[in-house]
Amino acid sequence: MQVLKEGVLPKGRALVPGCGRAYAVVAFAQHGYTATGLDLSETAVEEAQQVLEENRASLQGEATVALGNFFETTGTFDVIYDYTFLCALHPDARAAWAQQHKKLLAPGGTLFTMIYPITEKTGGPPFQMSIELVQSLLEPLGFKASRLEMLPDELCHPGREGKTAIGLWQLSEQ
Ligand SMILES: C[S@@+](CC[C@H](N)C(=O)[O-])C[C@H]1O[C@@H](n2cnc3c(N)ncnc32)[C@H](O)[C@@H]1O
Repeated sequence: MQVLKEGVLPKGRALVPGCGRAYAVVAFAQHGYTATGLDLSETAVEEAQQVLEENRASLQGEATVALGNFFETTGTFDVIYDYTFLCALHPDARAAWAQQHKKLLAPGGTLFTMIYPITEKTGGPPFQMSIELVQSLLEPLGFKASRLEMLPDELCHPGREGKTAIGLWQLSEQ
């Protein structure tokens, strides 16, 4: 994950909601984070546990995956990584998605969104995403982007429909 290599994220506790097989949880723990993955699906969590075990030797920090609902989870995290999670949610859940990120983010923390799929489509999941959509959800709550840009084509999913944008968001002092 390029952003982890750049070292622009705060260190500490990382949350990956809707983590699926938890490859991102592994990546954070390989960079020294105490990384927690969360998923509603029992199958995803079982597969994620296996991925964690396979990668255990390479971890510099801690990695755990829990079965649970993002909207009901508690805790405080220095980084929250949202990748193909927002697009998996029904549009009616988007306002709660933004509120929950605000609740879980530590002071000085960063919400790291990979905004995907940016494409013309109707229905979902995955639902169509855009930079403007994510701005409209986060900015009214006091999030401000320190970085918000389209990824170059070579860093988007080869062979998958839709482009990706990256957003690094911090809460402004209130
Ligand atoms: C499209 S998958 C993304 C998986 C992973 N982020 C990746 O990129 O490989 C979306 C995941 O979100 C999970 N999910 C959906 N709603 C959730 C919720 N309310 N709380 C936790 N996980 C949820 C689904 O079970 C699914 O594994």
